[in-house]
Amino acid sequence: MDNASDSRRTSVLFVCLGNICRSPLAEGIFVHLVREAGLVDRFEIDSAGTGSWHVGEQPDARASLVASQHGVDLPSRARQLTEQDLEHFDYVIAMDRENLRSIERMADATGSDAHIHLLRDYDAEGRGDEVPDPYYGGASGFENVYDMVHRSCQGLLDHLQAA
Ligand code: 4NP
Repeated sequence: MDNASDSRRTSVLFVCLGNICRSPLAEGIFVHLVREAGLVDRFEIDSAGTGSWHVGEQPDARASLVASQHGVDLPSRARQLTEQDLEHFDYVIAMDRENLRSIERMADATGSDAHIHLLRDYDAEGRGDEVPDPYYGGASGFENVYDMVHRSCQGLLDHLQAA
């Protein structure tokens, strides 16, 4: 957040409902891809939830497990989306349409000019689809979510580099 005025950096916020499953995965995977590409100095990356139930918690153990199986660390702690986020971040990326609606309502209220998109707008294998909420499912749901989030994060990074 301290680098809001650093115009060389593109800031990206990933948003889901609880900020313990999908958006921490997206944050961790995007950080991983940015590191691999040698672009750490070019991005500020964070995640948040539209709900407040899990504020302060570590990611869900099933999300951390699937990430670690792919060599990805998930260091985030859950926090709730704020109006300041809509003013600060260049890109606010929603996991599903309910998240998208919540973000857009907040953006309208604040006059935000953030770019607001679904993550899977950048998934060539399911453009415009949602990342399903894996919270009430089993481990296979998390592997499925991992794959689509990874593809989409790579697509988003490619898009931002081409921009
Ligand atoms: P997330 O998953 O939005 O991907 O973090 C959820 C986590 C918790 C709840 C819902 C979704 N919940 O209802 O507690």
